[in-house]
Amino acid sequence: MTFQSPVVRSITSLREVITGWYNNGKTVALVPTMGALHEGHLSLVELAQKKADHTVVSIFVNPAQFAPHEDLDTYPRDETADRNKLSHLRTNLIYAPPREQMYASDFSTKISVEGISNGLCGDSRPNFFSGVATVVCKLLLQVSPNFAIFGEKDYQQLMVIRRMVRDLDIPVQIIGAPIIREADGLAMSSRNAYLSEQERSLAPKLQETIHSMAVNIAMGEPIGDQLQLGITSLKADGFKVDYLEARDANNLAPIYSSGPVHKTKLPAIRIFAAAYLGKTRLIDNVAVPAAKSQ
Ligand code: PAJ
Repeated sequence: MTFQSPVVRSITSLREVITGWYNNGKTVALVPTMGALHEGHLSLVELAQKKADHTVVSIFVNPAQFAPHEDLDTYPRDETADRNKLSHLRTNLIYAPPREQMYASDFSTKISVEGISNGLCGDSRPNFFSGVATVVCKLLLQVSPNFAIFGEKDYQQLMVIRRMVRDLDIPVQIIGAPIIREADGLAMSSRNAYLSEQERSLAPKLQETIHSMAVNIAMGEPIGDQLQLGITSLKADGFKVDYLEARDANNLAPIYSSGPVHKTKLPAIRIFAAAYLGKTRLIDNVAVPAAKSQ
């Protein structure tokens, strides 16, 4: 018989399994997800398996991170398909708690990570990072893993979680994993399923635009000019731009510069974009390659 990853739904059963692992001297990695798994998620599972003896994947569509007008009800859910994909990778445990397990009816605690949650996605999704931080904090306390893996696809989320873990002294090592893309460059996302055929054919332009901006900035083109050009070109391609920004990759500090930045003073820069195609909001980011020493 082929391997089936076991599923637990209660904190008690979860802790029973994990305590058994720790009693046997094993290490544990957690990969938090909202399901509708694609190769981006699965790459995190593979990384987790390299890091630790045992891997737990959580599947929970977290209501606290969706605004009332957002897609909580229509967010893609397919636990059977997810379970098959995870079983194929021989994931040791799937934790799929029901909503009541995560949020009591009088749940009243919120984690808010100030500063780094503002700007970028925090501007158009005001309670989003607090919802993410709260559920990730709960998952880390429930699973108590040695490692937790998050994708750079959601770079600001990764930074918010790193900051929360540092500030609250949560004993876990947070590991960032590279963005997995479709063959045409589009960053994989569960929400890509919302795109119409025509939108799907336009979607890779987001990555193409920020990638060429990053290359141009690395070659010394002024950042301000590149941001303007990027916005113009995304609009011409049919995107409604939510934001397009250059930020310090280490702390997300905005980079204000209209002239060429002297290469030796260039911090590690990333370009961040969010843009709508029709009703679907796509996000992506890319590192500006390090300037070659001359
Ligand atoms: P979800 O969107 O399901 O993503 C789960 C994890 O997969 C996140 O760490 C995300 O960054 C990563 N991921 C998604 N697409 C990826 C890609 N193309 N390449 C690499 N990694 C990718 O992010 C969430 O869920 C939630 O906010 C969560 C952290 C689970 C809290 O509810």
